[in-house]
Parts: sequence; C-alpha cells; structure tokens
Amino acid sequence: MNPLFKQLVRRLSFLFLTLVGLVLLIAAFLFTYDPNPQVELVTSEEIDIESWDPQDLILNNSKADSLVKTGYLLVAESAKHLGPLAENPEHRYAGNHLSCTNCHLNGGTLSGSASWLGITERFPQFRGRENKIGSIEERINGCMERSMNGTKLPENSNQMNAIVAYMKWIDKGLPKLNSKVIQGYPAIEIPKVAVDLVQGKEIYQRECTLCHGAEGKGIKNQDGSESYLYPPLWGEDSYNDGAGMHRVLTAAAFIKNNMPYLQASWDNPKLSDEEAFHVAGYINSFQRPEKQNKTADFPDKKLKPVSTTYGPWTDDFSAEQHKYGPFPPIIAYYQTTFGLRKTK
Ligand code: HEC
Ligand code: HEC
Repeated sequence: MNPLFKQLVRRLSFLFLTLVGLVLLIAAFLFTYDPNPQVELVTSEEIDIESWDPQDLILNNSKADSLVKTGYLLVAESAKHLGPLAENPEHRYAGNHLSCTNCHLNGGTLSGSASWLGITERFPQFRGRENKIGSIEERINGCMERSMNGTKLPENSNQMNAIVAYMKWIDKGLPKLNSKVIQGYPAIEIPKVAVDLVQGKEIYQRECTLCHGAEGKGIKNQDGSESYLYPPLWGEDSYNDGAGMHRVLTAAAFIKNNMPYLQASWDNPKLSDEEAFHVAGYINSFQRPEKQNKTADFPDKKLKPVSTTYGPWTDDFSAEQHKYGPFPPIIAYYQTTFGLRKTK
C-alpha cells in the first residue's frame, strides 16, 4: 500500500477514535449531570402533612445557605421577623400577626394551598389587579399589603432577597414533597345560590370553632409571644378587605382544599363546594381592616374577579351580589358582553 495512503488511514482512524471518545465523554457527563441536585433527607415521595417538620428540614440542613434559612424564618414566623413583633421598628412591615405560611401551608410547599413550588419560574406574569406584567417581588408585596395588612418590602431589601431565595430553593433543595404540584387552588364548582349566612354559621360552629374560636380571633401560642397557634379569620388582626382571601370564591377554594386543618386536602376534601362557599361567606361577613386606595385596583375594571367586594365594576350588579353571589348571572354577563370566561 502507498505509505502516504497508509498514513492517511492511520490519521483518519485516530481522528475517528478521538471523536468517538469525546462523544462518549459528553454523553456520560450529560447522563450523570443533575442541574438540580436534591438533598437526600427524606426518601418518601409523598410526605405526610403531619410528619414532616420544615423547621428541621430547612434550618438544620447544612446544604441550605443562610439567606434561604432567613427566608424561611421570614415566611414562617413573619410576625417576629417582618411584623409587629420585630425588634427593629423599621422591620415591622406586616400589620398583623399572621405568617405567610398560615395560608401557604407547609412552608409554601403543600399542593392545593397556592404552593410556591415552581413559583419563581412562573414570574414575571400578567396581573389584572395592576394591569401589567408583574415580578415575583411585586406579587409578594401584593400579599404584604393585603393578606398581611402591611406595607411593601423594599424590592432590593435583604428580606425580599431572602424570601425569593427561599422560594427558589424549595424547588431544588427539598426532595419532592408532593407527587403532584398543583398551582393555586383546585377550582370549585361555583354554586348557583347566594351565600346563606345561617348555613355558614352552622358549618363554622361544627368545623372551625374548635381552632379559630367562636369570635374568629384564633388562638395565640402559649409562649407569651403574641404569635398564633391558630390564626384569626376576621377582626383587626386578620387579612384586610383587599386580600384574595376576602373574595368568597377564592376563600371557598382555599377552605375546601385545606380546612379543617389536617383533615382536608386537595385530594381528600372534607367540605362540599357549597359548604365551603357558605362558610367562606360567613367568615368574610365580619369586620376586618380596610385597605386604602382600592379603587385603583384593576385599572381595566372588566378584569376584576366577579367576587371582588369593592367597586367600581363594569356591570350593574349590586355590591351585595358581588360579595355573596349568586355568581352565575355575573359570570354569564361577562361572557356575553366581553367574551371573558370568569372563574373567580
Ligand atoms: C384543627 C384546627 C383547625 C380547624 C378545625 C380549622 N382550621 Fe383553619 N387553620 C388552622 C391552622 C393551624 C391554620 C394555619 C396553618 C399553618 O400555619 O400551617 C389555619 C388557617 C386557616 C386560614 C388561613 C389563615 C387565616 O388566618 O386567614 C383560613 C381562612 C382558615 N384556616 C379557615 C378555616 C375554616 C373556614 C375552617 C372550618 C371549615 C377551619 N379553618 C378549620 C387550624 C384549623
Ligand atoms: C391570608 C392568607 C394569605 C397570607 C397570610 C399570605 N398569602 Fe400569599 N396568597 C394568598 C392568596 C389567596 C393568593 C392567591 C391564590 C390564588 O388565587 O390562586 C396568594 C398568592 C400568593 C403568591 C402567588 C401564588 C401563585 O401561585 O401565583 C405568592 C408568591 C404569595 N402569595 C406569597 C406570599 C408571601 C411571601 C406571603 C407573606 C409575606 C403571603 N403570600 C401571605 C393568601 C395569603
């Protein structure tokens, strides 16, 4: 054989083998590389609501950095770290003694309770309340001003950064806590009737008084800290009238999927849609703090959820009907007039 040709063959096969080797190396890397390494703290896919202790899983986790741990404390012990009990008066952003995790259960990881799993990837997103694309920081401040009846956290504050860091971390730092991640609340079938406050009261007394109290004041922890074991549902220390939980359809969906606590879950609720609706109307029939400047909400008024209790609206239904229903006529009006499909 021509020695030149021989050399060419040798060179080519060398090149070929090097290429194959490279491809194999890359394949091996891709196969074993995990962009979201999970901490092996718990093996179970499905963790029982009663058996996992976020405090333990997060605060004692050497792989979670201190910003994440700070974020956890801010959302789980909000009154102490960003509310009325904060040592530094400048850190008292929340106006009530609730914690974020009173509504976003299990440290914001529980499906069916507007969980924060995957939340930072869902933002920025369009928000009708502001009629613009909003950031995760703005969404958090929405709950600060309404659910927490307080003021905004400065967007670049250490507190805000810590909360966002925590939200990012629960996605990858914790083992999958739910086999199914559900965004928001699973919808309820909207009842044809209006809220019946007599039925609502009966359901409340049967299913809720035990923990939240006959006066809706909740029960404080026994450690003298003024924080809650069972949070209040109405009165001065509750969410304000601009909060999502003040809309009967939103509250009914939360309650159906989460209350009574430890008895109900999204895949095994206790109350029927209609029971949740009546009791949601009942807890929202009482006095609570008033949000200022609510008329500025929803610059495009036709995007207002039908159960928003405060005007102005782009329809002629009464304030009473927006608060208690019946909702099907309002929903039908928006469908025929604007082609809008309203679910809440
Ligand atoms: C066994 C005790 C218990 C019962 C019974 C119970 N809850 Fe709760 N509820 C809680 C606890 C505890 C939380 C806060 C959860 C957390 O922080 O992890 C809560 C949170 C809430 C919240 C959100 C936080 C707030 O203060 O606004 C609402 C609303 C609520 N419950 C409504 C109800 C309704 C309505 C019923 C009856 C259908 C009910 N709960 C029955 C213990 C209970
Ligand atoms: C009184 C109950 C309550 C409290 C307390 C509360 N929230 Fe919310 N939060 C809600 C409701 C209701 C929604 C809207 C859920 C829906 O309609 O799907 C929501 C939505 C959110 C969302 C968007 C969720 C999504 O899936 O788009 C984020 C993020 C959030 N809250 C963060 C917080 C933070 C952080 C705190 C504490 C500073 C807090 N919330 C306190 C009730 C509450």
